[in-house]
Amino acid sequence: MIKDIIKLAPLALIALVACGGGNSGGSLSAEDRFVDSVVNSMTLQQKIGQLNQVTAGSVEDMEKLAAQGMMGSILNESNLDNLHRIQKAAVENPPHIPVLISRDVIHGYKTIFPIPLGQAASFDPELVRNGSRISAVEAASDGIKWTFSPMLDIARDPRWGRIAEGYGEDPFLTSIMGAAAVKGYQGDDLSDPTSIAACAKHFVGYGAATGGRDYNSTYIPMRLLRNVYLPPFRAAAQAGCATYMSSFNDNDGVPSTGNKLILTDILRNEWGFKGFVVSDWFSVGEMINHGFAADMKDAAQKAITAGLDMDMVANAYKDYLEALVSEGKVPESQVTNACKNIVRIKYRLGLFQNHYPTVSQEVKYAPEHLEAALHTAEQSAVMLKNNGALPLKNAKKILLCGPLADAPHDQLGTWVFDGEKSHTVTPLTALKQAGYDVNYVPALTYSRDNNTSKFADAARAAKSADVVIFVGGEESILSGEAHCLSNLNLQGAQSALLETLHKAGKPVICVIMAGRPLTITDDIKNCDAILYMFHPGTMGGNALVNLVSGKVSPSGKLPASFPKNAGQIPVYYNQNNTGRPASGHEILLDNIPAEAGQTSLGCTSYMLDTGFGPLYPFGYGLSYTTFDFSDFAINKTEFAGENDEIKISFSVKNTGEYDGAEVAQIYVRDMVASITRPIKELKGFKKVFLQKGEQQNVEISVPLSALKFYGLDDKEILEKGAFEVWVATSSANEDIKWKTKIEVK
Ligand code: GLC
Repeated sequence: MIKDIIKLAPLALIALVACGGGNSGGSLSAEDRFVDSVVNSMTLQQKIGQLNQVTAGSVEDMEKLAAQGMMGSILNESNLDNLHRIQKAAVENPPHIPVLISRDVIHGYKTIFPIPLGQAASFDPELVRNGSRISAVEAASDGIKWTFSPMLDIARDPRWGRIAEGYGEDPFLTSIMGAAAVKGYQGDDLSDPTSIAACAKHFVGYGAATGGRDYNSTYIPMRLLRNVYLPPFRAAAQAGCATYMSSFNDNDGVPSTGNKLILTDILRNEWGFKGFVVSDWFSVGEMINHGFAADMKDAAQKAITAGLDMDMVANAYKDYLEALVSEGKVPESQVTNACKNIVRIKYRLGLFQNHYPTVSQEVKYAPEHLEAALHTAEQSAVMLKNNGALPLKNAKKILLCGPLADAPHDQLGTWVFDGEKSHTVTPLTALKQAGYDVNYVPALTYSRDNNTSKFADAARAAKSADVVIFVGGEESILSGEAHCLSNLNLQGAQSALLETLHKAGKPVICVIMAGRPLTITDDIKNCDAILYMFHPGTMGGNALVNLVSGKVSPSGKLPASFPKNAGQIPVYYNQNNTGRPASGHEILLDNIPAEAGQTSLGCTSYMLDTGFGPLYPFGYGLSYTTFDFSDFAINKTEFAGENDEIKISFSVKNTGEYDGAEVAQIYVRDMVASITRPIKELKGFKKVFLQKGEQQNVEISVPLSALKFYGLDDKEILEKGAFEVWVATSSANEDIKWKTKIEVK
């Protein structure tokens, strides 16, 4: 624990004076005055030092580097005494600039929330904001002041392991959730001791990795970049995100880390971003592998010239920037600007006054934090099937089965460095705590387990139970960075176990904990109910009990389409219509007559074996109760100008036997435009909680500006013409509750 008080570095005094100076003294703000006064007094080498981020190493080496002023930031160091020594060395030696301590706090620090893909399924941005706020409070109490989150990569390919870390396939949902996360991490005031800087990553297009293989090249044309992949990052900028991270991928031949168009022209010149950009891990050096830089010195020049401010662990800036400036290949002003961007964020974080945690250490796993994690896990669960087996009514004896029924490590999901599995409440623990008569027969000990020797025991146990709860899915290592799969079926012998359990003749509740959509197509028939919890985090077991008992009705909606099989990928809802849209009545493989005529099957855009649509569509999820929509109204049907607003109102009534929540979704289609536009796009949603029998009037507004898109000349435009607007409870046509046409004049 840190006992001694760091001497207020000389710069802290300047910062105090600058802050106290308000905006007096000309047009420069106090912040600008401070940043200029500090950076303009630094040597070139000292400025370069701020551009250098290192990873944890020997404390002596780190202390020395900090004392030399060559450590702008550090990541992966969590020992508080080491951090104290490093920080002391930095602030007590010129240029006396505190080190920015960073960490991957992706979905919780100690209290672990559902993975971001699961949080997106809640369709409740307030849950995401609150979860990020709690993560910041816990992380800041250990001296962390910067997280590499939120991840805003649109992912249309669940083979890509990192789909787990983002908010799914939709730009609007990802924008809303990403902005909420930024607000949560950064709080109302970045200098608050509990606030940490957010980092919008991975900028940009990383989720479009060819073939779903991580780090692979992407080929996103400018209009698709503008209309699908960039919007969440623009929303983060509008939310005041302090930092961005350049992505590993080369898009259409240019690695993001050396891409001036995105790092400077769009991020800074168009969006007005004033924070700083850090590279992803060693991605400056990886431009050599890309064949985009000849050597590390060339890579350093390409990165700094593109507008990359901080080099994560490649030492390219540290080793080569001074020479590049002296050789006239890089203007010193480029280094000065990068240094100012970094010092600006350190100033906003209040680092010059407060180097260390000033909040209670008792915040970790605080009861209210665990309660929030429980609530989020409940709201993130998506019920995909229920033939009446849920909620459990008279079930006394439960057979609990499956490789994730008591897997405290895997339940937490990917990107968990600080959460401790000892705090995980698993389904086994929670069911016992709830007083159920639980017979636990895992039958498989981990998700890839192919050992079927315990299946007979499980089958016998099922016969003597009232209900079977199977908890399966993926070990946490099977999703996340560099963990991509070409086959998305349940791993190991899980499907065979489900079939065995089904044959025992008792209701089978299938609970999936996974980091991605899985192709559970052939498992559905063996399940009486399916609850998809993604990786639900620390409180997943309690959430499961509250859901299956009926205390909480499932209300999650899918943030990504579920493919029927991997061959169907990519399958996502907001696709273009094509010139030959599928009718849904096509002849499929099993129904093709012998010697069928060449054109007899219908020439439309579909697959002979899987047809057209996904296994489960974006926005889909069931409840224990039912909802009736009525009294639809729209403020008008003709609109002019992007400052206008569409207002749709309607009434929702809970007509079932349980309290529950429905997510009303607003989709829009631009019927004719100067470029082909998606058949539908989510432009609004509201989660409505209703007690049994309760009715609520709801209004959802969609600004006309939401109908803009980037057209042929790379300008964002709102085109006149006809649009369709509808209210639905998923992206599937059969879930449309109301539809109308509007005209933009
Ligand atoms: C990793 C990831 C990035 C993470 C960074 C620091 O390679 O791509 O998301 O924040 O390195 O750990």
